[in-house]
Amino acid sequence: MIEIIQTDITTLEIDAIVNAANTSLLGGGGVDGAVHRAAGPELLTFNKTLGGCEVGQVKLAPGFNLAADWIIHTVGPVWQGGTRGETELLRSCYINSLELAVSKSYREIAFPAISTGIYGFPIEPATNIALTAMKKYEHTFTRIIACCFSEADRGVYQALLD
Ligand code: APR
Repeated sequence: MIEIIQTDITTLEIDAIVNAANTSLLGGGGVDGAVHRAAGPELLTFNKTLGGCEVGQVKLAPGFNLAADWIIHTVGPVWQGGTRGETELLRSCYINSLELAVSKSYREIAFPAISTGIYGFPIEPATNIALTAMKKYEHTFTRIIACCFSEADRGVYQALLD
């Protein structure tokens, strides 16, 4: 089932959390920065063996010091007005993350609001894309968590889910 919560995703003790990374996988700000801080320096060392990640794709990493066992890195599209395939690329982030989790038999997965921070994707359409993808998999997982960081985002997710 789909759960909407408002917390720091690095505190979730579940199979996998999804990280909104960049193509280098060498860390950054936002949730990527929080994930690296919580996981510790071994994450960066590991990521350097991954050879980066393309937009819309996913790469798997151990959680290291994170509460979660695994990290699914994905790279969301930078919003450029909506005419450069951003919708399809963001949908790919969610679907590819869910498919990877299915292939590993994870039962619980949590997502941040991918691309809606530094990458500037408007929260409403991004939330629609996120929830539509999650709905397709809600019977495959015990819990699919939409982990919002702000009350405002949680409100958007809740309103759309209702
Ligand atoms: N837990 C959950 N959500 C968080 C956290 C956290 N600890 N920190 C930030 N967020 C939220 C933001 O509030 C936003 O709603 O994650 C969402 C995604 O925002 P960003 O982290 O800025 O990610 P994104 O917009 O996809 O931009 C990716 O930012 O951090 C860099 O290296 C990253 O270059 C990449 C870019």
